[in-house]
Amino acid sequence: MRASLEIPTPSEELMRRYDVAGPRYTSYPTAPEWQHAFGTTDYAERLEAAGAVGADEPLSLYVHLPFCRSLCWYCGCNVVISKEQEAADVYIDYLLKELEQVEARLGSRRKLAQVHWGGGTPTFLSEAQLERLWRGLTRHFSPLPDAEVAVEVHPAITTPEQLTLLRQLGFNRVSMGLQDFDPRVQEVTHRIQSFEQTKALLEHARELGFSGVNFDLIYGLPHQTPESWARTLEQVLSLRPDRLAVYSFAFIPEVLKHQRRMPAEALPDARTKLGLFRSAWAAFAEAGYRPIGMDHFAVPEDELARAQERRVLGRNFQGYTVKAASDVVALGSTGISDVGGAYAQNVRSLPRYYERIDAGGFATERGIRLTEDDRRRRALITQLMCNFWVDLGEEGVRDFAPELERLRPLEEDGLVLREGSQLEVTPLGRLFVRNVAMVFDAYLRRAERPRFSRTV
Ligand SMILES: C[S@@+](CC[C@H](N)C(=O)[O-])C[C@H]1O[C@@H](n2cnc3c(N)ncnc32)[C@H](O)[C@@H]1O
Ligand code: SF4
Repeated sequence: MRASLEIPTPSEELMRRYDVAGPRYTSYPTAPEWQHAFGTTDYAERLEAAGAVGADEPLSLYVHLPFCRSLCWYCGCNVVISKEQEAADVYIDYLLKELEQVEARLGSRRKLAQVHWGGGTPTFLSEAQLERLWRGLTRHFSPLPDAEVAVEVHPAITTPEQLTLLRQLGFNRVSMGLQDFDPRVQEVTHRIQSFEQTKALLEHARELGFSGVNFDLIYGLPHQTPESWARTLEQVLSLRPDRLAVYSFAFIPEVLKHQRRMPAEALPDARTKLGLFRSAWAAFAEAGYRPIGMDHFAVPEDELARAQERRVLGRNFQGYTVKAASDVVALGSTGISDVGGAYAQNVRSLPRYYERIDAGGFATERGIRLTEDDRRRRALITQLMCNFWVDLGEEGVRDFAPELERLRPLEEDGLVLREGSQLEVTPLGRLFVRNVAMVFDAYLRRAERPRFSRTV
């Protein structure tokens, strides 16, 4: 079943039952559970605990670069819109100051299995700025020879020279935002990017030897129709990236006011939206891609596809990975660290971030220290989300008896198969894997929380 390319067809009834608000489980406990009482001292202490693991255990390093030249109106990322190139110079100074603080707590733990620059748009930085940041980081930390070193780029603002430089510095993975090629969709979402631009950058990335080249698409945007989407899919497949992320559009205009600039009446309804995802699935499967996790696809020879075959695929805030380290240290505004058994997130506003770092400390805004129960549930939910399978073991079957009871209706609906202590999410269940994970979320039952986008 793992390698199944079957395209699931849910009934109207199932759609109604399972299209509810729910988390994407990029973390567990999910962000709304994190507390402001968790502050700088807690973070420092957790870094020290992570450092005590020893010099040989590698880390993941995430660097948040929030700048973008212009705002895409669907955007749900933590961004700062700027036309001032110098703004990035100041920011880099602070990233490097933060790094010094981190280093002091981590002690001898300096090896990196994974580096990820995300955003925003890291290629907002000029070549000189990109290089200064990289040299600053690698003065303190050393990527292992086989480290995954990834960067997110927006093809419309990334030059071939920037990509060449990044490759020379040691980057070996690149993810390109694309979303949709349709001119009308691009216009109403305020995201203009041509096919030619994207093709040229992809070809350049290939020539440079980047692997795991990824495109991000979004389904559910205003004015997307089955026909327009089919044309985008055809164009995407003509470029044959190694990986594709196909995100469900998270529309939360109550929180993201700029999303109101788009015509809400032009949003596809839930069924059409799911149809867009299904047609992407069908087109990618037909082209030989393997479905990965919830909403990703990869060519069969890609390391993610191979890891999922072996049920060892991992995931962190940076996405699916085969190099997930036991701790993730994040730098920059809104950066989320996962260290020493705790999540810690930095403040969002740049002035606040600068102020906090200037005060000689960290910029932690909120976080949570995981309990033993949290850790067990997190491991289980990650397994379900990545590998669509989990073995609870005898103890798990005993401890999760109430959850297994609540899972029954989902089994009856054909979303999950249970055999002894093993749970397997069916191809149909993959569409609703967030709903399956929600059964094991101890926090959701405590309160009704309409704070997430819909699961479909
Ligand atoms: C940091 S951006 C990628 C790099 C670059 N900023 C760009 O846009 O090309 C991360 C990705 O998140 C996805 N994304 C942003 N807002 C979203 C939303 N509201 N719903 C679903 N996906 C979203 C997009 O696919 C986007 O490419
Ligand atoms: S989608 Fe990318 S480029 Fe657009 S605003 Fe968001 S982070 Fe910036």
